[in-house]
Amino acid sequence: MVFKSGLQWISVALLASAVRAQDSCSGTLNVTSQSDLDGISSCSSYNGDIHVYNSDAQQLSINGVSSIGGDLHVFNCTNLGTLQAGTLESINGTLTLESLTTLDTLSFPSLASVDSISFKVLPRLSELQFNHGVGDATDVVISDTNLESLDGLNLSSVSTFNINNNKNIQSISVDATSISDSLDISFNAEKVNVSLPNLEWAGNATFRFCSTINMPNLKNVSSLGLINNTLYGMEFAKLSTVTGDLEISSNSHLSNTSLSNLTTIGGGLTVANNSDLRSIDFPQLESVGGALTFIGNFSRVSVPKLDEVDGGVVIESSSQLNCSAFDSAHKNGDFHGDEYVCTGKQSDVSTALSASASGSNTIKSGSGGSGKGSSASATGSGSSSSSSNGAALVGGSSGLVSGLLVLLMEIV
Ligand SMILES: *[C@@H]1O[C@H](CO)[C@@H](O)[C@H](O)[C@H]1NC(C)=O
Ligand SMILES: *[C@@H]1O[C@H](CO)[C@@H](O)[C@H](O)[C@H]1NC(C)=O
Ligand SMILES: *[C@@H]1O[C@H](CO)[C@@H](O)[C@H](O)[C@H]1NC(C)=O
Ligand SMILES: *[C@@H]1O[C@H](CO)[C@@H](O)[C@H](O)[C@H]1NC(C)=O
Ligand SMILES: *[C@@H]1O[C@H](CO)[C@@H](O)[C@H](O)[C@H]1NC(C)=O
Ligand SMILES: *[C@@H]1O[C@H](CO)[C@@H](O)[C@H](O)[C@H]1NC(C)=O
Ligand SMILES: *[C@@H]1O[C@H](CO)[C@@H](O)[C@H](O)[C@H]1NC(C)=O
Ligand SMILES: *[C@@H]1O[C@H](CO)[C@@H](O)[C@H](O)[C@H]1NC(C)=O
Ligand SMILES: *[C@@H]1O[C@H](CO)[C@@H](O)[C@H](O)[C@H]1NC(C)=O
Ligand SMILES: *[C@@H]1O[C@H](CO)[C@@H](O)[C@H](O)[C@H]1NC(C)=O
Ligand SMILES: *[C@@H]1O[C@H](CO)[C@@H](O)[C@H](O)[C@H]1NC(C)=O
Ligand SMILES: *[C@@H]1O[C@H](CO)[C@@H](O)[C@H](O)[C@H]1NC(C)=O
Repeated sequence: MVFKSGLQWISVALLASAVRAQDSCSGTLNVTSQSDLDGISSCSSYNGDIHVYNSDAQQLSINGVSSIGGDLHVFNCTNLGTLQAGTLESINGTLTLESLTTLDTLSFPSLASVDSISFKVLPRLSELQFNHGVGDATDVVISDTNLESLDGLNLSSVSTFNINNNKNIQSISVDATSISDSLDISFNAEKVNVSLPNLEWAGNATFRFCSTINMPNLKNVSSLGLINNTLYGMEFAKLSTVTGDLEISSNSHLSNTSLSNLTTIGGGLTVANNSDLRSIDFPQLESVGGALTFIGNFSRVSVPKLDEVDGGVVIESSSQLNCSAFDSAHKNGDFHGDEYVCTGKQSDVSTALSASASGSNTIKSGSGGSGKGSSASATGSGSSSSSSNGAALVGGSSGLVSGLLVLLMEIV
C-alpha cells in the first residue's frame, strides 16, 4: 500500500512537472519585455508561436531556445534597435519582422532553417547577421528595408521570392535552382545587379528597375516580364520555353534582346516601348500561343522560324520597316488571330538613298529559316524588297551589321 501510494505520488509529481514544463514551452507566447523571453530560456524547443507586438523594449534577446515550432512574429516595436537569438537554429513557421522602424541589428548567428521569411518596413536594417546562412525557406518577401545585400540567405529551392523597394540594395544574389511560384524583383536601388546563377526554372518572373540580370541557366518559366529596367542588353542562352506571357517593355537603354534558344511561347509576346531597341531577334522562336505585339522604334525584326501565332499580330515601328515577309506570313495563314497590323514610318526617299549609299542596306539570308516557307522577317530599309520567306533581312539606316548575333549567356 505504502509503496504503491508512493509510486502514485511520484507519478503525479512527474505528470505535474511535465505539464508545467509543457505549459511554459508551448502555446502562444506574447512578449512585451525581455523578462517574457527569459521565461522560456530553459526550453530548447518552444512549441508554439512567439509574438512580440507593440513592445517598447530597445533590445530583445531569445536565449536558450534552439527551435521554434510555430512562428516568430515581431511587429510594431518602435524602439527596438537590436533583436538577437544566439542559439536559435530553426523556425518551423514564418519569421516575420514588420514595422520595426529603429531596428538596426538583427543577429541570428545559428539560424539555418525557416519555413518562410517576411521582412517589411525595416528602414534601418542594413545587414542580416545570419552567420550560419539560412539554407531553407519556402517563401521570402523582403520589402522596404535598408539591406545592402541578401548575404545570409543561402536558398536552394523557393516558392515565392519577392524583393521590392529596398532602396539601398546593390546586389541581389540567390543560389536557388528553382523558384516555383513567383519571382518578383522590383523598385529596388536603381543600380541593383541581380544574379540568379543556378536558377533553372521559375514560375511567374517579373523584373522592374534592375540594372543587370544574370540568369545563365534558366530553361523555362511560366511567364517573364522585364519592365522598366535600366538594362543595356539581355541574353538568356538556355531559355527555351515560356509557358505563359513574355513581355519586354519600357526598358529605356535596352539595345539588344537575345533569346537565342527560345522556341515556344505559350502566351503572348510583347516587345514594346524600349526606346533604344533597334533590332528584335528571336532566332529559334517557332510559335506564340497568344498575341504578338512589337511596338517601338526598331528597323529590323528577325523571327526566321516563326510559323504560328495564335493571337493577333501588331507590329508598329516609328522607324522604316519593310513588312513584306510578315505580310506573306499573314497571307499564308500563319497568324490565326483576327488582327493583323504591320506598319513602319513611311519610306523617305532621301533616307533610303543615303542608307544605300552608305552600303548598310544589305540583305542576308538567315541560316535558320531555310526550308520553311512561312517564317517572317522585316527590315529597316524602306527600299529593300524581301520576296524570299525565311530570310533574315538586315539593313536600314541603323547601322546594324549582319546576320546571326553572337549569343551570350547572360543579361548584362
Ligand atoms: C496573446 O495575445 C492574443 C491576442 O493577441 C490573445 O488572444 C492570447 O490570449 C494571448 N495569450 C496569452 C498567453 O496571453
Ligand atoms: C511544423 O509545422 C507543420 C506545418 O505547419 C506542423 O504540421 C508541424 O507540427 C510543425 N512541427 C513542429 C515541431 O511544431
Ligand atoms: C504601434 O505602436 C504604437 C506605439 O507603440 C501604437 O500607438 C500604434 O497603435 C501601434 N500600431 C499598430 C498598428 O498596432
Ligand atoms: C550555400 O549552400 C551550398 C549548398 O547548398 C553550399 O555549398 C555553400 O557553401 C553555402 N554557402 C554559404 C555561404 O553558406
Ligand atoms: C553591377 O554591374 C555592373 C556591370 O557589370 C558593374 O559595373 C557594377 O560595379 C556592379 N555593381 C555592383 C554594386 O556590384
Ligand atoms: C502565373 O500567372 C498567371 C496569370 O496571372 C496565373 O494564372 C498562374 O497561376 C501563375 N503561375 C504561377 C506558377 O504562379
Ligand atoms: C520547368 O521544367 C521543370 C523540369 O522539367 C518542371 O519540373 C517545371 O514544372 C517546369 N516549369 C515551368 C514553369 O514550366
Ligand atoms: C516606368 O517608371 C517610371 C518612373 O517611375 C514611371 O513613371 C512609368 O510609369 C513606368 N513605366 C512602366 C511601363 O511601368
Ligand atoms: C547586348 O548588349 C550587351 C550590353 O550592351 C552587350 O554586352 C552584348 O554584347 C550585346 N549582345 C549582342 C548580341 O549584341
Ligand atoms: C536549347 O533548348 C533545347 C530544348 O528546347 C535544349 O535541348 C538545348 O540544350 C538548349 N540549348 C542550350 C544552348 O541551352
Ligand atoms: C507603350 O507606350 C504607349 C504610349 O506611351 C502606351 O500607350 C502603351 O501602353 C505602352 N505599352 C506597353 C506594353 O508598355
Ligand atoms: C528612332 O531611331 C532613330 C535612329 O536611331 C532616331 O534617329 C529617331 O529619332 C528615333 N525616333 C524616335 C521616335 O525615337
